[in-house]
Amino acid sequence: MHDRGVAMNGIAMKLSLLLLQVIPCTVALTSTGRLVTGNFHSSSQLYSSTASSSQASIAPTDSKTDRLQKIIHWRGEKEHGNSIQLRHYEFKSALASIIEGEQSNTDDTPIEPDISFTAALSSTFESANEMSEYQKDSYENAMQYINEENLSFSNNFDLIQETVQRCALVRSLFEIVSEGETFEELARNAIQSKNLNDMMKNGSSANLSWRVRLRQYGDSAKAEKQKQYGKKMRSPMKDEREAINQMKDLFMELAGPVDLKNADISLYIFEGLKDKKKVLARLLTRGANTSSIAPKTRICITNTPLCPLASFTMNNVGRVKNNFKVLDPFCGSCGILLATTMIEPSVQTVGIEIAHNGAVNRDNIMKDFSSRNLTLPAAIIKGDAMDKSVRDKARAAVGNEPFDVIITDPPYNIREKILSCPDSPLINLVKCIASDRKKEQRLLALGGRLVVFVPNMDGDDIAEVMPNEIALKDAGLKFVNMVEQPLNDSLSRWLVEYKCIA
Ligand SMILES: C[S@@+](CC[C@H](N)C(=O)[O-])C[C@H]1O[C@@H](n2cnc3c(N)ncnc32)[C@H](O)[C@@H]1O
Repeated sequence: MHDRGVAMNGIAMKLSLLLLQVIPCTVALTSTGRLVTGNFHSSSQLYSSTASSSQASIAPTDSKTDRLQKIIHWRGEKEHGNSIQLRHYEFKSALASIIEGEQSNTDDTPIEPDISFTAALSSTFESANEMSEYQKDSYENAMQYINEENLSFSNNFDLIQETVQRCALVRSLFEIVSEGETFEELARNAIQSKNLNDMMKNGSSANLSWRVRLRQYGDSAKAEKQKQYGKKMRSPMKDEREAINQMKDLFMELAGPVDLKNADISLYIFEGLKDKKKVLARLLTRGANTSSIAPKTRICITNTPLCPLASFTMNNVGRVKNNFKVLDPFCGSCGILLATTMIEPSVQTVGIEIAHNGAVNRDNIMKDFSSRNLTLPAAIIKGDAMDKSVRDKARAAVGNEPFDVIITDPPYNIREKILSCPDSPLINLVKCIASDRKKEQRLLALGGRLVVFVPNMDGDDIAEVMPNEIALKDAGLKFVNMVEQPLNDSLSRWLVEYKCIA
């Protein structure tokens, strides 16, 4: 009798804490400007600072979680350039890289994971009439369902989580625990499905803290007051409290303590997802912690640092993996190589930079790595990357072997370069790769990739600054793909991928 009284008090307290959660959480959200979801005591720097270290292991062993529908919430929706095409390109390349790493693929067959995505949001609500077609498309695809049924690996669940954790253009990954017409039904279905059994008494996550949030989209959102999506998207506290109250039968069953700020497990009630009424979802993990290498947080300050989102995306397209040797021949402040070591600490990186220390301080670059506990570059070489002796030094820094991938953002003043020198930096770099290959001192390993940004002004012919077929053949390279990233109305940069095939 006494025990039951204590238990009931505990449950009642838990529920009232949940119902009150909007007050302290709003404070936390306003002050940090982002969702707070976990105890960040991770040893890995890769995951978003809001992610719990235990999130990767949260996937409970006694749930049927690997067959649950997943939703991906993409990042970068505000920037016009982070198109759905670029997001998928990054995601699929990162996934392919992980699969290749696991299979230690020795043949040359490229891995192209059979995974696709469909829009999870609908723009059929009234205020969407004022949106352009582009805005509607971005809105609908800001969240997508993952179709992974053709991805036939026994560890799909781990593969997808690992992929998300290294991608810059992913905000978060969820799995759908239950669906329902009403909140009561949602709770009932969640109990019946047993998908949250790990959080209940005697479950593997019974001791973990948890919290729940409501997110309303489309028709369900009070569009005039609410942001429609993105990291600052919120739903009214009154609605959240009401939803939690109606789902109390489920929440009272969850054994762990409620933690409003640093919960190990974050549950989300989604309203207004495409083709679904109400959804209860569990946050599985988050995208890469790109902000930890934001230029404003760095010791080495230069005029042209590459933004962290692009740095991560390039590394993923380069399929960086275990023990890779990575070269950035126009490294500047090493934005790209910082992301490389965050994705894969076992890499050996080398940067080449022509500017003197007054413009690009190599000691400060080293501090940018060491202060984040990131693997230091094998070398940051002062010199002209077009000079063979400088490239020899780069190779020497990694045991006189070719690099597995060259990832670079060449100098941007491309118009002036064209005036003073007939070839673009990319064409020159490809000539260097060809010349070293001819001398049997390869800069890029067979099977390796060259990933590069090519800027393009409106009206200019991009083909003029890219290597032609003959130049590629000389270098043993094959063009693989290029995706445009508009920067403003007149300037784009193209992310271009080549593979060394001969
Ligand atoms: C667009 S910036 C790269 C920015 C870099 N990704 C970062 O995150 O800071 C191009 C860099 O290439 C350097 N550079 C230009 N010509 C070079 C050459 N021939 N060899 C090596 N570095 C060169 C420039 O000094 C500049 O720092």
